[in-house]
Amino acid sequence: MTNEELSRTVDTSDEWIRERSGIETRHIAAQGEFTSHLGIAAAQAALDDAGIEAGELDLIVLATSTPDETFPSTASRIQAGLGAVNAAAFDVQAVCTGFIYALAVADNFIRCGQARTALVVGAETFSRILDWNDRATCVLFGDGAGALVLQAGEGSGEISDRGVLSTHLHCDGRDHDCLYVDGGPSSTGTVGVVKMQGQEIFKKAVVRLAEVAGEALAAHGLEGGDIDWMVPHQANLRIMKGMAKKLGFGEEKLIVTIDRHANTSAASIPLALDWGRREGKIQPGHLLLLEAIGGGLTWGSAIVRW
Ligand code: ACO
Repeated sequence: MTNEELSRTVDTSDEWIRERSGIETRHIAAQGEFTSHLGIAAAQAALDDAGIEAGELDLIVLATSTPDETFPSTASRIQAGLGAVNAAAFDVQAVCTGFIYALAVADNFIRCGQARTALVVGAETFSRILDWNDRATCVLFGDGAGALVLQAGEGSGEISDRGVLSTHLHCDGRDHDCLYVDGGPSSTGTVGVVKMQGQEIFKKAVVRLAEVAGEALAAHGLEGGDIDWMVPHQANLRIMKGMAKKLGFGEEKLIVTIDRHANTSAASIPLALDWGRREGKIQPGHLLLLEAIGGGLTWGSAIVRW
């Protein structure tokens, strides 16, 4: 769905959306197409790409805020869809920071020896929880899914190791009102729609993302210039560019997909990783900084050697 198409149903314009957010188009799931369907497609593509059979998976962690049903987890739908009969499966909910939370969970399962081959999926159908009459939110989000396969390997504990080198997670529940959905099974009994104080989030994002990116770099004695690619959650192009500048590396090191996907919440980082790889930007051995902020508020970062 292009900005132009949206501007036919809500009082907005292509110019406003591009200038304020960097978004040009977004994808909307078809009727009858659920978060699990998007997740299964992404997961199967990741497994094929990694040359790993579904039966080898012993863990599936799905990051989503738009589950198919209140229960069971959408991860269990994905497990069935893949035929990953040996995998434990559950959802993680940290809205737009969800992928980094899910990555941290899977990485720590592997580090502890409780999992060997893990699938981390970010999948969302935010189109189902938008108020399509609220121009301040409905223009910003899209549907999508991305997935990553992690496998245990030997490491030396050095920065040259490949894999997830560290993850850094935070939450401040006092900032609930900045970004939430006004419904839920235990409160209203309805699904609800996204409510967002855009400017508030913007201000907090700039501060929190700088902090947590700095924390990740400091954990390894790195500076911005040591990173090959910054793969941020795709919420706003201005935030991403501002962050790149603040951390001391050029915009050319930013992986940007917000123009074609809009904000896909927990799916945005794996979608950006996939695009960066397909474009030949992200290469084996490259050092990546991932970072995100979302409802909760939650925020987090990761240092990954691809
Ligand atoms: N089209 C046209 N005009 C609009 C639209 C629209 N779609 N939406 C709002 N406006 C108007 C407003 O009514 C306002 O008009 P006024 O000045 O007459 O009152 C004007 O545009 C400016 O609105 P602002 O909200 O001040 O615009 P801003 O520059 O702050 O941009 C935006 C809004 C894009 C939402 C920005 O604040 C933002 O990106 N915030 C961060 C979002 C984010 O990072 N969320 C976290 C992750 S999301 C998650 O976790 C689910």
